[in-house]
Amino acid sequence: MKLSTCFPLLSSVITFAFSSQVPFQDTPQVEAFQVYQSAYSEHHSIRIKQQQNETLCNAHSKQYTGWLDVGHKHLFFWYFESQSNPSSDPLLLWLTGGPGGSSMIGLLQELGPCLINEHGNGTVYNDYGWSKNANIIFVDQPAPVGFSYLDKGTPIPGTSFTAAEDMHHFLQIFVSDVFPSLLHTPFHITGESYAGHYVPSLGAQIVSQNILYPTRPQINLTSIFVGNGYVSPLDTSFGYWETLCTTNPGVSEPIFNKTRCDIMAANLPRCMALGNICYANPDPDICFVAGKACWDGVIVHYDGESGPGGRNRFNIHHPCDPSSELCYPEIPAIQDYLNLPWVWDALGVPKAVENYSVVSWDVELAFLLTNDLQISMQPQVLYLLENSIDVLFYQGNFDLACNTAGNLHWANTMAWKGQPWFVAQGKRAWGDGGKDIGWFKEVKVREGDVSEGNERETTFAFATVDRAGHMVPYDKPREALALVTKWLEKRSFA
Ligand SMILES: *[C@@H]1O[C@H](CO)[C@@H](O)[C@H](O)[C@H]1NC(C)=O
Ligand SMILES: *[C@@H]1O[C@H](CO)[C@@H](O)[C@H](O)[C@H]1NC(C)=O
Ligand SMILES: *[C@@H]1O[C@H](CO)[C@@H](O)[C@H](O)[C@H]1NC(C)=O
Ligand SMILES: *[C@@H]1O[C@H](CO)[C@@H](O)[C@H](O)[C@H]1NC(C)=O
Ligand SMILES: *[C@@H]1O[C@H](CO)[C@@H](O)[C@H](O)[C@H]1NC(C)=O
Repeated sequence: MKLSTCFPLLSSVITFAFSSQVPFQDTPQVEAFQVYQSAYSEHHSIRIKQQQNETLCNAHSKQYTGWLDVGHKHLFFWYFESQSNPSSDPLLLWLTGGPGGSSMIGLLQELGPCLINEHGNGTVYNDYGWSKNANIIFVDQPAPVGFSYLDKGTPIPGTSFTAAEDMHHFLQIFVSDVFPSLLHTPFHITGESYAGHYVPSLGAQIVSQNILYPTRPQINLTSIFVGNGYVSPLDTSFGYWETLCTTNPGVSEPIFNKTRCDIMAANLPRCMALGNICYANPDPDICFVAGKACWDGVIVHYDGESGPGGRNRFNIHHPCDPSSELCYPEIPAIQDYLNLPWVWDALGVPKAVENYSVVSWDVELAFLLTNDLQISMQPQVLYLLENSIDVLFYQGNFDLACNTAGNLHWANTMAWKGQPWFVAQGKRAWGDGGKDIGWFKEVKVREGDVSEGNERETTFAFATVDRAGHMVPYDKPREALALVTKWLEKRSFA
């Protein structure tokens, strides 16, 4: 392995095997992890190795795996260089939701360069992987999600904000110590579902830390884009009615009949009233009562009938596959694959990881107890826009769990300079190669002054993909890649 061509030879580079400050060039450890110690914090380091071949993942580009060690927390990542121009293409971070979901779901089921095969014993090349024109990092976070782990006795991070602190440190070391060539690359955070919480809070953490500590490594955050995001729980509940009781999602008949829809509509005002009290007083007990009113009055009518063999919360048009709690047969296949002994050898999984699991229920529980699930991240989205970070929320219209109607609802009520134009404009069709894909709304606001040379334009966009559920790149891979390419290249769907 010629690491010298991919890694800078810094004095801080040491080999993990010796765990001491031995400069890398003196100890050519083929296959070993390299350790990069943060230049500004003794408690942060990254261990990384390059995968030697495509056996693990048919990526068609260089791939690296390893862990960030943040004190007693150890975060697993898998990094793929762009298949086109790694030195000039943007850098993306992908976060799967949950809370507790492993980003290996995004990698191996949705948008990675390789996808799980039907037997769960290997991968196939993905023609629509997002690393076609971007460098992309997948991270299992917060620990102990997926291959990430905690030292014994370390409390599980229970909020999006604590998770964001660790991810910010990870990114700082990644772009300043491990791959300094990425330091000035435009950086985008993306993800899905509960990443509607993770991504805005990580974005806000990056922006505020860049401002607070200008001499520390800056993360060149340029945009965030989230698919079927869980941003505002209350608006998601509100959107249940429109999604199930109208043809707006793109169905020929509403999913529910009039009887059920009348019951849900009658219960919505109380759900919203109590939910607003929870938003104003985000105490777990208060929010529990609000959450229960929304569940009993609205959500249960669908979610109570969902699960393996029943209704599918992630796609109102398709039943839930009996093979998995998460409704997709790829989920158990990914779990089988990532527990194979040769896969563990290739990744160098430490003994501290007992088992790979696609979902950490411990993390989900920790987030539940802190009330992170019940708060809205709309303020963080607003903070990003006010700091000139471009924002896109995109939606598979068949999703119920994080439905289009609910996300449009909080997007409309966000009070900022772009609000009047966002609300007033109609939905316009967007497409690719002459085919309509969905609709969009977008606003560009200008701040600063041309004459003073500090004018900047910020984009807020909302785009949908018809006939796609919760996992847009899984249901509509070609359309999802077209959407991402338009966003990264033009920031526009017009
Ligand atoms: C791929 O690399 C691994 C080491 O990471 C090695 O064990 C394996 O034999 C290689 N496979 C091929 C087909 O070269
Ligand atoms: C994967 O499983 C299938 C079906 O059992 C088998 O035919 C194939 O050889 C296996 N592939 C590998 C790489 O083990
Ligand atoms: C950040 O990326 C932009 C491109 O979006 C580039 O023009 C700029 O120089 C970068 N800034 C820093 C501080 O690296
Ligand atoms: C409406 O749907 C519910 C649940 O599927 C069913 O129990 C009820 O009989 C339906 N009512 C009518 C009038 O079709
Ligand atoms: C690993 O986890 C899976 C799924 O959670 C379970 O079926 C399996 O028994 C576990 N294996 C071990 C060795 O704990």
